[in-house]
Amino acid sequence: MRHKARHRGPVITMNWNTTLDVKTRVAVGAGARQKLSSILAQVGAGRRVLIVCQPTTAVHWLRDILDTLPTEDFQVTTLEVPDGEQCKTTEWLLRIWEHLEGRGFDRQDTVVALGGGAVLDLAGFACSTYMRGLNLVLIPTSLLAQVDAAIGGKNAINLPTGKNLAGTFFFPKAVLADQEVLGTLPGRQLTAGLAEIIKYALIEETVAKGTDYEKGPKPLLELVEEMVKDPVEYDDPTLSGIITNCIKMKLYVVHRDPHETGIRRSLNLGHTLGHALEAQSEFELNHGEAVAIGLYHATKYSVGQKKLEKDSLERVKEVLMRAELPYELPKGLSKDRLVQQMNSDKKRSGEKIRLVIPQTRLGVVDYEASYPVTELSKLV
Ligand SMILES: NC(=O)c1ccc[n+]([C@@H]2O[C@H](COP(=O)([O-])OP(=O)(O)OC[C@H]3O[C@@H](n4cnc5c(N)ncnc54)[C@H](O)[C@@H]3O)[C@@H](O)[C@H]2O)c1
Repeated sequence: MRHKARHRGPVITMNWNTTLDVKTRVAVGAGARQKLSSILAQVGAGRRVLIVCQPTTAVHWLRDILDTLPTEDFQVTTLEVPDGEQCKTTEWLLRIWEHLEGRGFDRQDTVVALGGGAVLDLAGFACSTYMRGLNLVLIPTSLLAQVDAAIGGKNAINLPTGKNLAGTFFFPKAVLADQEVLGTLPGRQLTAGLAEIIKYALIEETVAKGTDYEKGPKPLLELVEEMVKDPVEYDDPTLSGIITNCIKMKLYVVHRDPHETGIRRSLNLGHTLGHALEAQSEFELNHGEAVAIGLYHATKYSVGQKKLEKDSLERVKEVLMRAELPYELPKGLSKDRLVQQMNSDKKRSGEKIRLVIPQTRLGVVDYEASYPVTELSKLV
């Protein structure tokens, strides 16, 4: 069922230049999706547009997006790929390439990815590699995709040996983060997005120190704590401000460090254990849930190392619980296997691994330190 948001603030548009001299337009707010055709006109896009979507998002939102593209101006085709993570394969990558080739797409034309992070990753990868890159527009439809996957230019598909193993850095021409499309998102997926938001809250001070991001009058963590006192609704006005805040934070981080050689690593807080949990649970735990457990355990590790006061751990546990996210390792998962899995993380180099660890107070992280891989057993 489609909803109309109860609160419709203004759509905020940010023009964002990376240090790579790429310009992305980011529109955030209820109704941002309506900007699609004007943005295509602004970037001088060609007539051909391919919309890549998944069955669920197609049912709820495809007609709506098609209606924003006048038929006299655009020749629009669509391609439905399987739901969730199952689309991030070489098979579906090839199908998109074949679609573009078969319909004569050239470098002026556009691929629009409409969906959660999985579709964005697949369509972004296909778009970046076909003819070395067409115009890409992302319309993220999950909370996680709006605050994270759509921002920052990373695209990827999975290989049989691991997640996100083949990918590119390629920046979209535009991101349209429209809170209204979250109205059809299942509750569990909305909650998963809150985990990434809590992650942003736990790195906010470090990001403010290392980039041009300016903190608001209240720390993000306090805003989130207030918001999760009651069940979070997709059209909560506080959530709207928080989404914009997280997007800005990621844009500033990526602007400073597009290729993840420094401060961008801070965004990986909770992700080393998180990725291992996703894989070991065979994706029973979704990305957000796994990251939530990773955030708690990274904080616990830091308290164990006496880098953080003990009550910080209680605070992280409380905010995760209130957000209805897990924080404990699921029973039945082997800790040894989790450690083994973390050992094969991309961030490992020889006998050392880079970990992002909270320190001093919540909001501050150390993203530069490498730890002996033997420390990984203390993370679980
Ligand atoms: N590229 C990056 O920087 C980056 C960052 C974070 C995550 N990711 C990737 O993103 C993926 C996770 O993204 P996700 O959490 O959005 O999961 P997802 O894309 O699998 O979507 C989750 C589910 O929600 C459904 N859905 C999405 N929007 C909906 C809507 N508005 N209404 C109804 N149903 C909707 C989808 O069909 C799917 O079933 C992973 O593949 C992860 O690797 C990429």
